[in-house]
Amino acid sequence: MPRLTPPQIIERKSTGPKLTMLTAYDVNFARMIDEAGIDMVLVGDSLGMVVLGYESTVPVTMEEMLHHCRAVSKGVNHAMVIGDMPFMSYQISPEDALSNAGRFIKEAGCDAVKLEGGKVVADTVKRIVSAGIPVVGHVGLTPQSASSIGGFKVQGRDLQRAKEILEDAVAISSAGAFAIVLECVPSELSALITDSIDIPTIGIGAGPKCDGQVLVTHDMIGLFEKFTPRFVKKYVDLAPQIKKALSAYKQEVEAGEFPSNEESFSGGEEAVLAIKSLKEKYAKT
Ligand code: KIV
Repeated sequence: MPRLTPPQIIERKSTGPKLTMLTAYDVNFARMIDEAGIDMVLVGDSLGMVVLGYESTVPVTMEEMLHHCRAVSKGVNHAMVIGDMPFMSYQISPEDALSNAGRFIKEAGCDAVKLEGGKVVADTVKRIVSAGIPVVGHVGLTPQSASSIGGFKVQGRDLQRAKEILEDAVAISSAGAFAIVLECVPSELSALITDSIDIPTIGIGAGPKCDGQVLVTHDMIGLFEKFTPRFVKKYVDLAPQIKKALSAYKQEVEAGEFPSNEESFSGGEEAVLAIKSLKEKYAKT
């Protein structure tokens, strides 16, 4: 089955069912997410925090993103693979942004790119789209510029900021993006935005009225333990189970219980004779 295309994603705004998006950073997760029938796999720059151990997404580089996008792309048949443009890979100029966006498609097997920001990046979105590269927007809480918008908190609770976010979403939609992520905005605002633009809205901490939903996979399966945002639902809590398995392994190896004959190879009669003769020649005792 070929990968989903932007027109098929846009169509779902009117036909449903709601769109699903999850993050992946390696081939195994990419495969499982694809096999689960998720529509879009986002290689998010959340990579920096959940996989590379950075304090924020800001230090993530183009090379790191491309490296992980290549791995993800190898595991996906049907979902659309979206590469997240890292901080400073699209802010310098629309031409620079286009050249970096092109690398996600040409070098890493992505089908589309995502970038953060509203009106200020609308010309950049236009430039990338005009070259034939599909773009997903991202407004509301934009983690790459979290400090300039007052930190990691809900955006658009006052009239001024709500108006800004609505206008940002309209600008990104008019610039030709085929979908837009709304992060950490009140449900009432995401409902208004969803009704005001023609492209699907994909919510994260944006309530139930969006056209789709995205989560960081490591959050929803309990693999990222540092903190869990309120909007995350943990569908499984893997970290405690993994730790239990690691401790059991340590304990069994130390006690000589693993490996047992069950997990070992026997060479048969010929090998026994060969080892016996080697033993006579080499063994110290
Ligand atoms: O980087 C990321 O994973 C994202 C999602 C949270 C939308 O941008």
